Amino acid sequence: MRILGIETSCDETAVAIVSYEGGRFTVEDHLVASQVKTHAKYGGVIPEVAARMHVPVLPDLLSKVTGWKGGAIDAVAVTAGPGLATSLRVGIETAKALAVTWSVPLVPVDHMEGHVVSAMIGQHLSGDCWPALCLIVSGGHTEWVRVHAVCEYAIIGETRDDAVGEAYDKVAALLGLPYPGGPSVDKTAKRGSSSRFTLPRPMIDHDTLDVSFSGLKTAVRYLVDDTPEENRDETFVADVCAAFVDAVMDVLMAKTRRAIEQEAPTTVLLGGGVAASLVLRRRLTELVAGHQVTLWLPDMAYTTDNAAMIAAAGALRFEHGDVASDPFALDAVPSHVLGASWI
Ligand code: KG4
Ligand code: ZN
Repeated sequence: MRILGIETSCDETAVAIVSYEGGRFTVEDHLVASQVKTHAKYGGVIPEVAARMHVPVLPDLLSKVTGWKGGAIDAVAVTAGPGLATSLRVGIETAKALAVTWSVPLVPVDHMEGHVVSAMIGQHLSGDCWPALCLIVSGGHTEWVRVHAVCEYAIIGETRDDAVGEAYDKVAALLGLPYPGGPSVDKTAKRGSSSRFTLPRPMIDHDTLDVSFSGLKTAVRYLVDDTPEENRDETFVADVCAAFVDAVMDVLMAKTRRAIEQEAPTTVLLGGGVAASLVLRRRLTELVAGHQVTLWLPDMAYTTDNAAMIAAAGALRFEHGDVASDPFALDAVPSHVLGASWI
């Protein structure tokens, strides 16, 4: 089957055409227009600005993705949530119009399910791949997800406060590094020494797969506040970044190890914007080397928000029969509301 995917949940407008046959995805087209330069001026995403920017950009991207011309599209997938409601609606209303005009099913996709499926692109899906464990680390979510099989998920651990990407963004702001904080903290950390400062590893030994990152962020704030301004030079910033990244990775790896031991998965998947971190990819690769599991890392292009992952997740949902019963009634959903399908 061939499916058009649309993603407008936050500050990336994205369109993709993906085909799915015999357990394999083929990404035929994949375009992303990022608003990051606009939001960087404000140090974060301004929802009203994000929604307005999607409006002219989405039709522009659709006109550049030519694969849908000629009508060989079997369904339209769109991110229905979680995300910014006004941004989501731009994608949803466009997807509705296309699906109804083409008389094809409309497939609502959970954005986080998209991040899980992003690591399946390029792989051969079969019954042998499951059960799997997926670590999702994005700007809004940090979750360990059990994948019983395609379209059967359960959240088995999550952050109780800040998501990892959010913690990166906040630490970057405290250190005067540019938004988005993930790439800038990641890059700066490479020049620093992680041994100069010791930051807390919250909940690392707790008997749960849940985590918390707000205390770590606060510890960075105290470190900055307690250091005289003249001592907050480039080396200080780099050393704080290195200590922060080390603390985050130690927590993520400890919980992932615990989850692997608990769940005994066949496959481990990684997804979300923070999956672009080379340190995270290396640490996870090292971790799974000690276990009998196959690791699926997402292609770098599919780590941050994109529509290929939404189209791919939509293709699996389509085959599973999860299409909108009344396309006109579809509206933005604030959280994992496709929740019924998350068991
Ligand atoms: O998945 P995503 O694009 O959007 C959400 O669904 O939230 O994730 C965005 C997050 C941001 O917090 C950004 O700072 C972080 O991913 N990020 C990174 C890197 N690139 C993006 N974090 C760490 N290292 C990176 N290289
Ligand atoms: Zn995302």
